[in-house]
Amino acid sequence: MKTVIICYSRHHGNTRKVVEAIAQGHDVTLIDAAAETEADLSVYDLIGFASGIYFGKFHESVLKFAQKNLPQGKNVFLLSTYGGGNGTKAIEETVKARGAQIVGRFGCKGYDTFGPFKLVGGIAKGHPDQTDLENARRFFDGLSVNC
Ligand SMILES: Cc1cc2nc3c(=O)[nH]c(=O)nc-3n(C[C@H](O)[C@H](O)[C@H](O)COP(=O)(O)O)c2cc1C
Repeated sequence: MKTVIICYSRHHGNTRKVVEAIAQGHDVTLIDAAAETEADLSVYDLIGFASGIYFGKFHESVLKFAQKNLPQGKNVFLLSTYGGGNGTKAIEETVKARGAQIVGRFGCKGYDTFGPFKLVGGIAKGHPDQTDLENARRFFDGLSVNC
């Protein structure tokens, strides 16, 4: 299954760790949404959007990438890391507007030192951990079976 994952991961590289765990041993192309704004996604069977949660949403670069490049009617999965709580509403609306089908969602905690959290040494320290990465791999393997 030819898969592409469009990722934004800058705060601590948390989301990138999860994406790389998934990509290992699979036919997965990675696109950094901060570095690339255009790509032909029509050749992929499965498209993942991955991001840390920034102010309750996937990062703007991922939302814009999806708006611009997501072909109609694709199978899409969502992957996110967050300090406190997930926020997939905006990306879900964006991909559904492109007629895409969301075939899976994976989220886990990611080390967060934003704003006041820095003063207390951050929250969700140590995440994503080995269990998070294992869960992410299992999630992705499950997707491959279903698609
Ligand atoms: C500017 C900024 C805003 C954030 N906003 C949220 C938020 O609204 N909700 C939340 O749970 N975490 C928030 N976080 C924490 C990140 O989602 C979390 O650390 C995530 O794992 C970062 O992913 P990354 O290292 O892949 O960029 C924020 C972090 C930053 C730097």
